[in-house]
Amino acid sequence: VGRYGMVVVSNRLPVDHEIGPDGATRWKTSPGGLVTALEPVMRSAEGAWVGWAGAVDEEFAPFENDGIEIVPVSLSAEEVQEYYEGFSNDTLWPLYHDVIASPQFHREWWDAYVAVNRRFAQAAADVAADGAIVWVQDYQLQLVPQLLRELRPDVVIGFFNHIPFPPYGIFSQLPWRKQILEGLLGADVVGFQRVADAGNFTRAVRRLFGYTTRGAAVEVVGPDGDIRHVVARTFPISIDVAGFEELAARPEVQARAEQIRSDLGNPKTIMLGVDRLDYTKGIGHRLKAFGELLAEGTLAVEDVTLVQVASPSRERVATYMTLRDEIELQVGRINGDYSTISHTAIAYLHHGYPREEMAALYLAADVMLVTALRDGMNLVAKEFVAASVDEDGVLVLSEFAGAADELKQAIIINPHDIDGLKQAIVAAIEMPESERRRRMRALRRKLHENTVDHWSKSFLDTLTGRGAVPPGIP
Ligand code: G6P
Repeated sequence: VGRYGMVVVSNRLPVDHEIGPDGATRWKTSPGGLVTALEPVMRSAEGAWVGWAGAVDEEFAPFENDGIEIVPVSLSAEEVQEYYEGFSNDTLWPLYHDVIASPQFHREWWDAYVAVNRRFAQAAADVAADGAIVWVQDYQLQLVPQLLRELRPDVVIGFFNHIPFPPYGIFSQLPWRKQILEGLLGADVVGFQRVADAGNFTRAVRRLFGYTTRGAAVEVVGPDGDIRHVVARTFPISIDVAGFEELAARPEVQARAEQIRSDLGNPKTIMLGVDRLDYTKGIGHRLKAFGELLAEGTLAVEDVTLVQVASPSRERVATYMTLRDEIELQVGRINGDYSTISHTAIAYLHHGYPREEMAALYLAADVMLVTALRDGMNLVAKEFVAASVDEDGVLVLSEFAGAADELKQAIIINPHDIDGLKQAIVAAIEMPESERRRRMRALRRKLHENTVDHWSKSFLDTLTGRGAVPPGIP
C-alpha cells in the first residue's frame, strides 16, 4: 500500500522527457488542460501521476514535480510499437473514430496492450493509499480499471474516455470487445464526452453481457450473482478558461497578434485551423472547400489567408505518414495555383506552438475552422472562444465534434458536405459585426458554465458519491 490519496493514470505523463544538448535528462512540463485542472486536487490530496515519459527503453525513478509525485512507467521499443503505435493508435483510434481509417487487428498488438495495461495497473496499485481515488484516463488504458480492482479492491476507480465511444455496429468488429468492456466495468464511474458515447457504451454492455442499465447505472453481475453498480454518464471536458482569457488579455500577446496580422499582409480576413495532423480532423475537407472558393473567384487571395497549424503527431504510424503526404500535396497545389508573390493562400505550419503563441493566433484570426470528421470534444474550438476576449470572431464548427453539443451558437457544419462548408465559410467571412458579437457572447457564456474545473469536480464528486447523478442521464 502506497501513500497517495489521489492517483491519476494516463498514457502520457504531464511532463515530457527530453535529452538536453549536454546529453543529460531533463523534464519539461507540458501544460495540458488536464494537469491544470487536477493540480489543485492533486496537491491537497497528496497526488501521484502514473504515466509514460515518452522515452523508449528507459527506466526513470519517481520524482516530485510541482507538488505532484511523478511515477514513470517504462515501455520497450517493441511495446511502443505494439501497444502505443499499434493497438492504441492503429486499432482503437480509427475504430473509435467511425473507421475513417481502417483499424488494423493484430493479435500481438493486443497481447502488448494487455501487458502494458497490467504494468500501469500495478504501478497505480503500488502508490495508491488505502481507499485512494484512482482516476484512469483514455482509450490507451481501458483494461486498467478491472486489473486494478483485482489488485486493490479497496480503491475507488474512475475512468474517463476522452475520445468517442463507437456505435455497436463498429465496436463489435473488435475481436477483444468483451475484454475491453470488462476492463472498463472494473471502474465505479465511466465518463464520456457526449450523450451519444455513453449511450453507445451502455448499449454495448447490454448486448454483449445482457446487463440491465437504468439511466446512468449499469448493474454488473459478478460470478456469484452479486450485483455492483457502475455509473456510465457524460462529463464533457473543457479548458482552463480563465487561464486562456488571462493570456489573451496580456499586452504582449495582443501585440504579437497584431504582428501576425501585419506579417500576413493585413488581409481582410484571417482564417485559422489548428489541429494535430490527424485524419479525424477533416483538414483535407477544409482545404478542398477553401481551394474551390479561390478557384471560383468567390474568395480572392489578396483578401483571405488561411493559417493552418498542423502539429506533428504519431509520425511512425503509416496512416499518419500517408495523411501528411496528402495534406502537403493539397497545400502545395493550392498555394501553387493561387498564391502571388505578395500573398500566400495557405500559411501551413507543421509545428506545435506554446500557449502564448496559440493565444496570439486565436486573437489574430477572424474565423476559426473546426471541421473534424469525428472528435471526442475538440478543445481548440473552446480555446478560440476563450481567447476571443474582444467578443469578436466567428467559429465554424463540425457537428461531429463533441464541442458542438455545447457551442450551439457557432456556425455548425457537416464537413462531408463541401458545398455547405463553402457556404458556411462565406457566411462567416461576411457576417455583420452585430451578429458576430451576439454569437460570440453566447458562446463565451456557455463556455463559462463548464470549465475544466467544473469537469474534474463533477467527475470526482460523482466518484466519491457526493455528486447526485441526475435521474435519466444516459
Ligand atoms: C488525444 C488523446 C490523448 C492523447 C492526445 C495526443 O487528445 O485523447 O489521449 O494524449 O491525443 O496524442 P499522443 O498519441 O501524442 O499522446
